[in-house]
Amino acid sequence: MPSDSLILGIETSCDETSVAFLENGTTLLSLQTATQLKKHQKFGGVVPELASRLHTEILPTLLQKALLESQKSLDDITHIAVTTTPGLEGSLLVGVMAAKTLALALKVPVIDVNHLHGHLYASYLSPTPPTFPYIGLIASGGHTQLVLVKAHFEFELLGQTRDDAAGEAFDKVGRLLELGYPGGPAIEELAKSGNPKAFSLPIGLRHDAFSFSFSGIKTAVMQTVKANPEILSNEQLKADLCASFQRTVIETLWKKTAAACEVYGCSNLVVSGGVTANQALASHFQTQCQEQGIDLHIPDKALCTDNAGMIAMAGFYRLTQE
Ligand code: KG4
Ligand code: ZN
Repeated sequence: MPSDSLILGIETSCDETSVAFLENGTTLLSLQTATQLKKHQKFGGVVPELASRLHTEILPTLLQKALLESQKSLDDITHIAVTTTPGLEGSLLVGVMAAKTLALALKVPVIDVNHLHGHLYASYLSPTPPTFPYIGLIASGGHTQLVLVKAHFEFELLGQTRDDAAGEAFDKVGRLLELGYPGGPAIEELAKSGNPKAFSLPIGLRHDAFSFSFSGIKTAVMQTVKANPEILSNEQLKADLCASFQRTVIETLWKKTAAACEVYGCSNLVVSGGVTANQALASHFQTQCQEQGIDLHIPDKALCTDNAGMIAMAGFYRLTQE
């Protein structure tokens, strides 16, 4: 492990462009994230070609800002950690090419980082990181996975979604309820004034311990709206449906995560990915974990969604393994 390191993290896998400087694996000197949400909103989802172009446009500016904030120069960089997979091909390429070009010019190594590992390593940006073995729940727009983490980069996939990811379900339900893109934050906001018990919605794959399915709940919401079209013009009913949907997704995620903690005897739990930015989810998990003596690690909101800080941190721990 290098004693002095300054890792430049780069994340461009989807619709967030992000750059970070991490010093000695402990101090996040700067995190600059630019979301493209507004640019994609009118299309109702992420347009891949547009995402790549926007990454190309904004990345140099973010790098300048990060250098300025951390009071570092390009020559201080010792490593560049970049998300290489999974994600939108064109978007990933922008980050990878930027990393490789800079690395060539600065004569520093590039560390390839898997985006999902990055989400788990967001928990290492807090002063009290998890201890091994721990259960990791990644719930984002593209993935929903439960993993057993035995040691650094020793992951065992316990289960994942068989169809839609949890965030995808939030986005699809958001579109269905005419709340725009992305659905997650809009549903969370409206759910605050709704009754979470108003509608009964299904828990996907109820009897499968660790696998998820969210297409059934999306269809159930669709059928509910079809049978009660007044929901779309009645704010209270819409809020009730949002609250019921959110509650069911949270209960689904908790039920399977709790089972994984129990079966594998883990008292540490890391929860990350865009969906875990949801404060109702965070408080449900906090209450349940407290009752069951589980040490819960949820990154700060800005670190739950896509960011380069988590990529730099995963890169740092990759180095410690060499
Ligand atoms: O991790 P992330 O930023 O990007 C991916 O790797 O996919 O996750 C984005 C997803 C979107 O589907 C978005 O609707 C969801 O996370 N999301 C939320 C919230 N904020 C973002 N879902 C529920 N509640 C939120 N507050
Ligand atoms: Zn993500």
